[in-house]
Amino acid sequence: MKFPKNTQTQLISAGRKKRYTQGAVNSVIQRASSLVFDSVEAKKDAAKNRTNGALYYGRRGTLTHFSLQDAMCELEGGAGCYLYPCGAAAVTNAILAFVKVGDHVLLSEGAYEPTHDFCDRVLGDLGVETTYFPALIGRYITKYIKPNTKVVFLEAPSSITMEVHDIPAIVKAVRQVNPEIIIMIDNTWSAGVLFKALDYDIDISIQAGTKYLVGHSDAMIGTAVANERCWPQLRERSYLMGQMCDADTAYITSRGLRTLGVRLMQHQKSSLTIAKWLAKHPKVERVNHPALTSCKGYQFFRRDFLGYSGLFSFVLKMRLSDIQVADFLDEFKLFSMAYSWGGFESLILAHQPDEIAEIRPVSGVDFEGTLIRVHIGLEDVDDLIEDLAAGLDRIKVSHHKITALQSLV
Ligand SMILES: Cc1ncc(COP(=O)(O)O)c(C=O)c1O
Repeated sequence: MKFPKNTQTQLISAGRKKRYTQGAVNSVIQRASSLVFDSVEAKKDAAKNRTNGALYYGRRGTLTHFSLQDAMCELEGGAGCYLYPCGAAAVTNAILAFVKVGDHVLLSEGAYEPTHDFCDRVLGDLGVETTYFPALIGRYITKYIKPNTKVVFLEAPSSITMEVHDIPAIVKAVRQVNPEIIIMIDNTWSAGVLFKALDYDIDISIQAGTKYLVGHSDAMIGTAVANERCWPQLRERSYLMGQMCDADTAYITSRGLRTLGVRLMQHQKSSLTIAKWLAKHPKVERVNHPALTSCKGYQFFRRDFLGYSGLFSFVLKMRLSDIQVADFLDEFKLFSMAYSWGGFESLILAHQPDEIAEIRPVSGVDFEGTLIRVHIGLEDVDDLIEDLAAGLDRIKVSHHKITALQSLV
């Protein structure tokens, strides 16, 4: 799959207006809480235009924030972009900006686990009910919509298991039942480049910019790009809830955009090579990579997405014991064990099927082996395959070790 023709050019130039760069290539880093007004008249003007690019107060943003916000709007085709201190803040504040007591949120069961927890616990305590729909529900989502449904929240591909929604079918069905419902998506996996959410009539595209936008695992930020109808409410409510990120992080994120295209192309190339290699490995049951037919929702992915990133999972034929998990994961040379993803480095984590079943309240899981989630970084792909091959070989070694130990008892 290929990115649209002008993607690279757009990523290089987005947000680099002269007002923001002031003669440099990159935007200035304008660190400020107070922004000084030259006169009473200037203060009045700033107040009037405070949501429209005027420098007013640090929490409304500085030139550094405006540059990133403009860039994100250009990339994702939005009317406005709000910046948050991390991805979770973007998710939670975007939802909070639109719900009140008595409302209902319909959440994909494939959404990031803390999104479930926020909805169940925090929204639950506030009198907002959350129910879940299976990621592959498509147009039958109508069965789950209630008269008080206010937000439908998607995530594609699903966290960990990687199912891809039939997004056009879901959006069409929701709009037919109640056009007032706000449809949001956690679009982190696509970096806003590989899936153009707002073109699919989704109202708000949310990203943990911590991942691909920053791209170097050294900063945290969240972005929410909204269409015309949602932008004023998202902006004002997020502002009232005190959301903002610092200028340095906004700068780092803008800098990340400049290499996002080439990074994504390499993530795509290497992740595809590794996914195909894994699919042929005798110890692997199934590969959940959206480029492969074995990934649920593959046909929707092919139709709607513009490319793949570096995060996917695979299921082993066997369920590893705790010792086997440790033997497998502890010895990798290149893959590190860590939360998060989207940086230049490769990462690996293991999940047992029963752990995943707990966060799939409607569908449960249909596999018995241990699931391994990998983020394929920018290392040489042959080196990564070598590391993975050695890891998969260790499973046999450790299995023998256990059998030998057991025979001694
Ligand atoms: C899909 C997804 N959304 C949101 C988040 C939250 O992002 P952050 O860690 O920046 O709060 C994560 C983090 O792993 C994620 O994977």
